[in-house]
Amino acid sequence: MMSSNLIGELNAYCTEWSHALANMTEMESRIEYSSAELSRLLRRKDILVELLCSLVMGDKYPDIKKAMMFDNEFLLYSDPNRLFSLRLFIWEPGEYTSIHDHNSWGVIGPVSGEFEVVNYRRNGNAESGSAVLQETERLCLLPGETTSTLPLDDGIHKVGNPTAESILSLSIYGNALPRGYINEFDPATGEIRPLYAPQVKKKLLAIRALPDLDKSRSEDVLKQKREDRLEIIRTASLSALEKLR
Ligand SMILES: [Fe+2]
Repeated sequence: MMSSNLIGELNAYCTEWSHALANMTEMESRIEYSSAELSRLLRRKDILVELLCSLVMGDKYPDIKKAMMFDNEFLLYSDPNRLFSLRLFIWEPGEYTSIHDHNSWGVIGPVSGEFEVVNYRRNGNAESGSAVLQETERLCLLPGETTSTLPLDDGIHKVGNPTAESILSLSIYGNALPRGYINEFDPATGEIRPLYAPQVKKKLLAIRALPDLDKSRSEDVLKQKREDRLEIIRTASLSALEKLR
């Protein structure tokens, strides 16, 4: 009884955000609003405790079968009009992401412990296959505090848990560019690697394997996928079609 009330309250927050964000056109105002609202939610430890209990019990919500980009990431809400999503992250002691970019704006903050955010600027030619990164800022956020990030080269960072305890963080991400991947950066070599969501990665594997199996069937399917919503699927389908010729 208790648990469904709290999960219901979380859903009420998100529904309210859906309405509010739909009425804002500027990215700046969406970020400002989301930061304030996330900060409010980060202080609701009762809701977060309930979410963790649900995860431990294997309840239907949050859905752990939903494949996410990072394996410590849980989808809590996805706006029906793709305006934003709310995600929970659980960080083990000393756990950090790689340095990465984003397809949308985002606001992030910890529920407990401390949360470290290191921001980078990408120098040099953005079109080239490698990147020179310069650290520009290092933040240590306390529970309830938030910071924001931006799409593509304007939002390159790594985040993680500098403490010796497991911690939680929440993120709100805005409407995403239909790129289909994010970039990971290796600061030592300058190498840039695409990181795909598991569903996209599996589709790419199939697109690349199909032309060798059946020419006419793959031509049909790949021609449809030339028009896919995601840029990476369109590109992969085009090169697979090239292979058929
Ligand atoms: Fe990030």
